[in-house]
Formats: sequence, C-alpha cells, structure tokens
Amino acid sequence: MATMATDLTQETSVLPEQDEKRDTRPEVIALADNIRIQDDVPRFDIRSQCLPTIIRAEKFSVYYGKKVGVKDITMDICSRSVTAIIGPSGCGKSTFLRSINRMNDLIPIARAEGALYVNGVNAYDRRVDLVNLRQRVGMVFQKANPFPKSIYDNVAYGPRLQGVRGRALDDLVESCLRDAALWDEVKYSLGKSALALSGGQQQRLCIARALATKPQVLLMDEPCSALDPIATAKIEELIAGLKHAYTIVIVTHNMQQAARVSDRTAFFCLGELIEYGDTRAIFTKPSRKQTEDYVTGRFG
Ligand SMILES: Nc1ncnc2c1ncn2[C@@H]1O[C@H](COP(=O)(O)OP(=O)(O)OP(=O)(O)O)[C@@H](O)[C@H]1O
Ligand SMILES: [Mg+2]
Repeated sequence: MATMATDLTQETSVLPEQDEKRDTRPEVIALADNIRIQDDVPRFDIRSQCLPTIIRAEKFSVYYGKKVGVKDITMDICSRSVTAIIGPSGCGKSTFLRSINRMNDLIPIARAEGALYVNGVNAYDRRVDLVNLRQRVGMVFQKANPFPKSIYDNVAYGPRLQGVRGRALDDLVESCLRDAALWDEVKYSLGKSALALSGGQQQRLCIARALATKPQVLLMDEPCSALDPIATAKIEELIAGLKHAYTIVIVTHNMQQAARVSDRTAFFCLGELIEYGDTRAIFTKPSRKQTEDYVTGRFG
C-alpha cells in the first residue's frame, strides 16, 4: 500500500496540463498490492473505488444561532482511507469535522439538522452514548494539547478510564506510541513531562493518546499547521501508515498535503459541499470551476 501512497503523492501534486503528459506515457504501473501490469492492460482506477462507508452525512446542517456553519451536506466517507476536507477559511471544515463526534455539542448555540451516521447509527439520535461515540471517533487538534502529565500518563489516560491496568496498560501505551511513530524517541523517558517534548513530538503524542481508546475514526483538524516541514513529513508518513487500520478525516489548508495524504477530497465553500471525489480527480480534473479556482490558488 505504501506504493500507492507514494504514487498518489506524485500524481496529485501536478497541475492538469502536466497530468495529460503523465497519462499518455507508456509505463509500468505498480498497483497497491505490488502487482505490476503494463499500461495497456484494461484497468479501473482503484482509488475511485470506495471501501465500505463508515460515515454518512445526509442533508446534514449545523447552525450557530441563525448563522450557517455547514448546510445540506450529503457525503459518504470510506473506511480505512484518508479523506481530506479543503476550502477557504470559514467554509465549515472544522464545523463538519467536529460534528462527526459531536464536539459541536460543547458550543451552546450550535444546532444540527439532518443525519450523520457513524457505522450505520445516527450520531444525533438521542440514545447515542457520547462517551462511546468519542471513543470510537477520536480527534487531534491543530495545536497539540498534551495534558500536563507524563508521556506515559497522557497515553494511559483514556484506557485507565476504561479500566485497563498493569501489564496490559504498559503494552497498550507502547503499541500506541509505536503506532504514532514516537516510541523510539521516548521509550527511555516515559515518566518525563509531555510538555517537555517538541511541538512535533507533542502532536504525535496526541495522536498516540487518541489511538489509545481504540477508535475506528481519527479526525484531524489542521494537525500540521503549527509544525515545521520535518515534523509535518513525519505526521504525513504516520497518516499513510495508520490508514490501513483507521479511517482518517483530515482538514488542511495545504493543498500539497491534501494531495499527498488523501484518497478522497471534499471541497467546501460557504458552508456547502461543492465537490467530492477521488483526490487525483479533484486536483487534476475537477468538475466544478470553483474547485479548480481553489486548488490552483486562484481564490481562497
Ligand atoms: N463557536 C462558534 N460560534 C459561532 N459561529 C461559529 C463558531 N464556530 C464557527 N462558527 C462559524 O461557522 C462558520 C464555519 O466556521 P468553521 O470554523 O467551521 O470554518 P473553517 O472552514 O474551519 O475555517 P478555518 O479554515 O478558518 O479554520 C464560520 O462562519 C464561523 O464564523
Ligand atoms: Mg477550522
């Protein structure tokens, strides 16, 4: 699968005219599962094939008082893949992301309409247990927000609340830190304060903490915007590795990042979903002029 991520990165970061050249080139294409086929063999675009839907928004809207946050969003998000949400500031990206685990409930004037299904259950049904929903749908914010506790205690926090103790807890902390690509850097200093870590390490710690409650979905709101290019590259690598086990929805202002890390991209504008599809198509052959203007930097 690493091959696919690399290919996609290269392919989607080019503009439409360059893409034309690439498409007609006779070459051997390496598919995700390492089966190599000649270019003239009939094939479908595996990236446009949706894996099972894990999140479905149906005519879903959020209002802040009378103000629209997002309006009439209908979209399916595939499991075990990366979905990027892009769009100009104030277009509702964070609102939509926060809606998936009902973090918007914490804003008193926020009100949702329509349905948003997670694993087939409407997350807005009165009977939904919010603690359970947020365990299944974890969140990583723009600014790393570790607790003022040790590295170990940050990761152990959620599992402890779930009753995990002793050796099982140690193992879980280690596996989450490994999954978040942080273990090697902190394995001898687990008792140290998390606040002593660098910004990039703190962000990976927050990812480890989010993984510790065994979520199915990881929501990331501009997780790299406060990081330098090296730390950003680490997080992107991490996302590419995590998507085989988790569903990731990432908001980003960085077009190259969306192109590099995501399988599908949703373009929002003024609270509406303008276009949604295969990342490669959105960046190379968008069907809406608004999308094209945005991804080519002509507006936004
Ligand atoms: N807590 C809030 N109270 C009132 N209005 C809000 C609140 N949060 C967001 N909004 C409004 O909802 C709309 C969408 O905001 P949102 O934060 O979702 O945009 P965004 O796409 O994430 O923007 P950015 O790229 O700047 O983070 C905006 O008009 C914003 O002013
Ligand atoms: Mg935002």
